[in-house]
Amino acid sequence: MRVILCENYDEMSEKAAGMFAAQITLKPESVLGLATGSTPVGMYKRLIEMNKSGTVDFSGVTTFNLDEYYPIKRDNNQSYFTFMKDNLFSHINIDLKKTHIPNGETKNPVKECEQYEKMIRQAGGVDLQILGIGQNGHIGFNEPDASLNSFTHLTSLTDSTIKANARFFESANEVPKQAITMGIATIMSAKKIILLASGASKSRVVAELLNDGINTSIPATLLKTHPDVVLICDKDAYLGAKLGVDIGGTNIKFAVVEGENVKYKACVDTPKTTDEIIDTIVKETKKLKKEYKIKAIGIGTPGVISGGTVTATNLPFKDLALDVEVAQRTDLPTNMDNDANCAALGEVIFGNTTDCDNIVLVTLGTGVGGGVIVNRQIMASNKSAGEIGHIIIDMKDGRECACGEKGCWEQYASISAFVKDAVHAANANPDSVLNKIYEREGRLSGRLIFEALNEKCPVAEEVFDQYLEYLAVGIKSIAMAFGPDAIVLAGGITKEGDKLIKPLRKKLPKDLRIEVSTLQSDAGSLGAAML
Ligand code: F6R
Repeated sequence: MRVILCENYDEMSEKAAGMFAAQITLKPESVLGLATGSTPVGMYKRLIEMNKSGTVDFSGVTTFNLDEYYPIKRDNNQSYFTFMKDNLFSHINIDLKKTHIPNGETKNPVKECEQYEKMIRQAGGVDLQILGIGQNGHIGFNEPDASLNSFTHLTSLTDSTIKANARFFESANEVPKQAITMGIATIMSAKKIILLASGASKSRVVAELLNDGINTSIPATLLKTHPDVVLICDKDAYLGAKLGVDIGGTNIKFAVVEGENVKYKACVDTPKTTDEIIDTIVKETKKLKKEYKIKAIGIGTPGVISGGTVTATNLPFKDLALDVEVAQRTDLPTNMDNDANCAALGEVIFGNTTDCDNIVLVTLGTGVGGGVIVNRQIMASNKSAGEIGHIIIDMKDGRECACGEKGCWEQYASISAFVKDAVHAANANPDSVLNKIYEREGRLSGRLIFEALNEKCPVAEEVFDQYLEYLAVGIKSIAMAFGPDAIVLAGGITKEGDKLIKPLRKKLPKDLRIEVSTLQSDAGSLGAAML
């Protein structure tokens, strides 16, 4: 199988359209096997443009579509009949009498299948077959474990295909449960096959195409036995391993991700100088490259990224093109983004909000950090966009913030603020349990305040209640501003789980989904890998 790796969907569509057009130019009477679904739409668009500009002439071609739902009326707007009309046939100079799509209205599907197969043979067989690929590896509607030798037949759709195709219908219930499809044997008899794959949801199955195995539970792998198959896929679908690097003030975390599977995690101390930090990343990358097919690096770094460089306060980075430096020394495409953004991306791809498209991650630590994910992507940001810790919640007598403003949320909702408030209350209430713990330990921490709370200390309870108010006020503002599907809380204090979350929820709107990060400090490196 030849593989053409494209930068993105548009390039994939362009390449496929070029090959499709070349086939027609070489043989104007070509018999073409066509696919539906979202993947070939871009290719069809390009072909329409080429037809309009006179580059390709469809008047001589005969077409056979791979499949059609069953039962379905032709004029149903989700039928493949309608799909082909809308996406190709009514825009090009094709002879509609020479286009064929299995009849989803037939009362006798068995006969329809036999006739369809006969017509393909009578036309001289398919010269070029276009295929998409299902997330479960189906081609046409040949679902996992389908017979290897089947010709056009009536088949039942698997639950996963019904679920994947539900996006085109009102609901999964509306998706027909059966389809008439060319069989594997029909597809394999095409002289040439172009298989298209786009997007990360196909990466698992594309990886199966790239290894040596043939597996009937992934029907597309059978194509490996065909002498002339070209896989044209975009980078998202092409599974190489990605290395995620999360640079922190104390340590640097590494994660190797294949598709969406985490293969390796490591953590090393953060060296002092910029050169040493870059050396560490390069050394680790070179080591990991021997073991994994690393195709790209993503780096999450603290600080402000602007104009392609990063400047951080707690690391020696000043106007540093960190991604360029790492790319040059590793020979791998490298991207970088703010570490909190990476963590938010990690949460939506690997955490407990994978069912969401839009989330906000709020990390409660020394400060309050976070990232905003819109449509499963980091919200395009410049400078301080996404710096949710600096939402101003007190304008009048606001506490001073290191950023120069007064009343920033992190001055109230960070763990440092919580501890400061608790120390203040302990000093003011010498007989309290909270103060006893303070004197015993010589300091307070989130965990020690919870120790006082466990002992039902009223002073600690008051500090905690006030802290929850602060937390809630910022969370409510975030919810109003971004309308996320969920807000994910991370940071040491969230390990208290329900002790923190239950009373917090009482202060928030009922329909606002709050989750505690299951990834915690791993989110950054995992998200960076997905940059
Ligand atoms: C469509 C077809 C299917 C699709 C596959 C991928 O005629 O036969 O096998 O190619 O389900 O669909 P998309 O492209 O929507 O991901």
